[in-house]
Amino acid sequence: MARSAVPTGSHSVASAKQRANTLRAELDEHGHRYHVLDAPVLTDAQYDALFDELRALEEAYPELVTTDSPTQRVGGTPLAGFDTVEHPVPMLSLEKCTETEELTQWMTRSVAALESTSLAFTCEPKIDGVAVALLYEQGQLVRAATRGDGTTGENITANVRTIQAVPLKLRGKDWPDRMEVRGEIYMSQRDFERFNEAARVAGRQPLVNPRNGAAGSLRQLDPQLAATRPLTWFAYSLGWAEGWEPERHSEVIARFRRWGLRTNNDFSGPHDPADCVAAVAAIEEKRAQLGYDIDGAVIKVDDLEAQRALGVRTRTPRWAIAFKYPAEEATTRLTGVDFQVGRTGAVTPVARLEPVFVGGVTVSNATLHNMDEVERLDLRRGDCVRIRRAGDVIPQVMDVILEERRKGARRVKLPKQCPSCGSPVLRLEEEAVARCSSPAHECPAQRKEALKHFASRLALDIEGLGDKLVEQLVSEGLVTSAADLFALDAEQLQALPRMGEKSALNLLAALDKARHTTLPRFLYALGIREVGEATAAGLARHFGSLEAIEAADLPALEAVPDVGPIVA
Ligand code: IVH
Repeated sequence: MARSAVPTGSHSVASAKQRANTLRAELDEHGHRYHVLDAPVLTDAQYDALFDELRALEEAYPELVTTDSPTQRVGGTPLAGFDTVEHPVPMLSLEKCTETEELTQWMTRSVAALESTSLAFTCEPKIDGVAVALLYEQGQLVRAATRGDGTTGENITANVRTIQAVPLKLRGKDWPDRMEVRGEIYMSQRDFERFNEAARVAGRQPLVNPRNGAAGSLRQLDPQLAATRPLTWFAYSLGWAEGWEPERHSEVIARFRRWGLRTNNDFSGPHDPADCVAAVAAIEEKRAQLGYDIDGAVIKVDDLEAQRALGVRTRTPRWAIAFKYPAEEATTRLTGVDFQVGRTGAVTPVARLEPVFVGGVTVSNATLHNMDEVERLDLRRGDCVRIRRAGDVIPQVMDVILEERRKGARRVKLPKQCPSCGSPVLRLEEEAVARCSSPAHECPAQRKEALKHFASRLALDIEGLGDKLVEQLVSEGLVTSAADLFALDAEQLQALPRMGEKSALNLLAALDKARHTTLPRFLYALGIREVGEATAAGLARHFGSLEAIEAADLPALEAVPDVGPIVA
């Protein structure tokens, strides 16, 4: 009997082994390009095809399975608990500073302590995640441990193996026999938002912040569950090594990179003290664009011999320091909740806050997503709330500080009527969002939002037609639907406050240009519920023309990839 269906059936054991090795090498290469270099060359589908072929081969020939095979990342059975792991070299914390002056003094003191004339320093982001120590033996990942109390941690190997960016096998050949690589496991802001959006839709508890998300995932006893959490990591230092004596920290980082360990692109150095101060400022400057949470920069003495000579205190080394940036979380008071009406009529609660400085800006509003979230937070007017603003993410309310709640604080309720047009607000049983019940053209708020969307960058990209102008056009009754935009004339426009002749003509020119656009952009611009950029592109590709889409019936629409009965 054949050992498996198609492609594997034709292999002899020898050729199966050869093919499995080739597939593993290719999957490793493409996994490395995707997860470590952030420069994929295969599409997901192409990668999946190779992966499926390898899995089928290994199922047909179980004797060919290797522990470092990409198919072996997710273990089968949940653990009863985590074993403990001793750290032969303790995992320390860092001394902190917040002023440039303190940093400069620390660098000067380090030079003086060594009685040297100068020292070089490195600088890198301080990732807000979970510290890990990975043991590689003969290039193979054999164990992963948490920091724990610094001396004893927990064995989280099964969970760490599920992180695609952690190599099960190092690249190259020149690695030491044994070494412990230290780094930080984290969840990116984008993955955090996606995870929470999915959790909200499914009615599950969202994560409080990416750090808790990472820590919670690593604490899962079931590696299958851990594998569903989108985690990644950065390697940031060498714990210890047998058979390798690097001289500098920057050399360690460069080697790590060559071995396929994911290191931080914003690592820099060796620097002299002045350049190091500039590097710390440069990271802070980039903070909102990094895509992951950091709480500072770490400055280290580059020379490892000098590090040893400087030594350690009880819990912190003398050879490194953390420069802390302003916190991205803060507490403030909720002054009220407003309800905004979106282009599809969705009525969304928005928290109004006592202004507070957080993540480098003053925040006075935060999103509350939907009423489920308001109920989950058990939000009351006047509550003291913890908010968070990290990167370019909209500020979020994380939780309520219950001890500070005032007596008799009133619950936040969904309004019965649309704040814009007064029609009843409806909340369907199976939907998390509440909606204004009137059709888009009868509700000024929906109309304004639909027009803003129509003019937006990914839609018709009408330059000069910003939010303010849309509000004016709708309020003045000049425009009710997108089609009205194309009937506007210079006279009408110039009659608007703050609109000169030049701006009016520019806008008309931009509108004229928008008459000629592509089908996907046009479809997206219409703002049909559930028809985002990707679906619009899919519809355009499938039907080819607007006429064909207009003529399509339900089954014809459902034949388009990613279009289900609701969208259709
Ligand atoms: S070096 C002696 N580099 O910060 C400690 N730590 O307060 C050596 N961390 O728990 C650590 N990013 O997990 C270092 N680029 C980085 C880091 C980093 C985050 C964490 C680390 C540790 C904490 C120390």
